[in-house]
Amino acid sequence: MALAEEIGRALWFVALDDDAAWLDDLNDMFVGCADLRMAGGTSRVHDVRRLVAENGADLVLVDHGLAGASGTVAAGALARQMPAVRVYLMAESPTRELWEDARRRGVRGVIRKPFTPEALVRRVREDMDAEARQTEALDPATAPPRAAGAHVGADAPRAIAVFSFKGGVGKSLVAANLAVAAASAVRPQRRQVALVDAEEGVGTTPTLLGVAGRPTLLDWSEYEGERVVDPAIAGRKLAQLRCGLHCVFAPGEMDRAVSRPLMDTVLGTLRGMFGLVVVDCAPQVTEAVLSALQQCTTLLLVVEPTLDCLDKVRRGVVALQAAGVGMAKLRVLVNQGRPGSGEYTAAEVREALGLQVLGRLPFDPEVRRCVNRRQPLALCAERGPFMAALLRAVDGILPGLGQIPGRRWWPWG
Ligand SMILES: Nc1ncnc2c1ncn2[C@@H]1O[C@H](COP(=O)(O)OP(=O)(O)OP(=O)(O)O)[C@@H](O)[C@H]1O
Ligand SMILES: [Mg+2]
Repeated sequence: MALAEEIGRALWFVALDDDAAWLDDLNDMFVGCADLRMAGGTSRVHDVRRLVAENGADLVLVDHGLAGASGTVAAGALARQMPAVRVYLMAESPTRELWEDARRRGVRGVIRKPFTPEALVRRVREDMDAEARQTEALDPATAPPRAAGAHVGADAPRAIAVFSFKGGVGKSLVAANLAVAAASAVRPQRRQVALVDAEEGVGTTPTLLGVAGRPTLLDWSEYEGERVVDPAIAGRKLAQLRCGLHCVFAPGEMDRAVSRPLMDTVLGTLRGMFGLVVVDCAPQVTEAVLSALQQCTTLLLVVEPTLDCLDKVRRGVVALQAAGVGMAKLRVLVNQGRPGSGEYTAAEVREALGLQVLGRLPFDPEVRRCVNRRQPLALCAERGPFMAALLRAVDGILPGLGQIPGRRWWPWG
């Protein structure tokens, strides 16, 4: 069985090396690798933790000959700081002394450089199997969970809820196309992405994606209340679109609402399986929406630049605060969904709401054309004004998404 199949998702790594050509090679080599993917590369030690956290990475590969610092020391420090992440050293001529020094510092092992994706996958798998054999001998109550070891919990992977307190302001448009863009294979920073449609009853997400809206959240009902669902089972309760995006849709019938424990289960599971989870929320704060707002790491609040919308949103934000939703994770996107509706600038919206505004999405006639043809905007009008502004706006929370294919994305220092 392939490693990704066994774990339920691909593993992600971040590379630390000052050899730009080798980072380029790694990027190219792992593009088609199903088991292991490159989340990012850098030459600066202090970028590594951010790249790991932002991408929910499982592995860090550190070059032994890193200029200006001993790679072994840097690898040891990273292993200490991020105990859930597997840190390996890459060395052209690994010696026994180097291996012993690295192991002493908590580094998982030394890999001979250069290597192929197959060799690295084999190595990681062997190490994981060896660890599993060792933990099998332990008292089950004390043994660590057998898994990828890293983020198969609800910790690192990023989750974004797209919401508003007003209907028809473009939440579904933003959520669906953000998810498609992030999952799209053409970007070097492709992520494993799941989209959760939480708009029960009359949701537009299936139309925006051009697919049938199944399976739905109610197909997960038998697992309601469980912390996580086995990834192999969860995988069968998701639709996988041709662009790579995985989805679960909102039920069409209004008589059976999605409960809060059910949404908790779905989000807890998906956050362990995917690098990015995007939730499209209904305009009403239902139980399911409240679960998403509490569980997600970033809340994208879509507003129309009108007085009516800003008033509603201001009142809604106060209510959310009272419900215990963290205000620090709120970011505003101003969407001019109708021509001529833009009475307020982004700065005025920031002042009115007292929240950080990520950007302003212009009215784009391509949107209607794509929606009418049931084609995702992110695939059909990727460089149009709406998508360009959206990707630019979210660059601070999903770095690299707006980058043009073929360009390198790591920050050279
Ligand atoms: N920037 C834009 N340019 C052109 N059309 C837009 C833009 N933003 C939104 N629209 C139009 O508005 C419609 C409604 O958007 P959408 O369904 O995403 O809103 P919503 O906030 O999810 O609505 P609901 O509250 O019903 O869930 C879209 O299908 C699209 O036709
Ligand atoms: Mg919607």
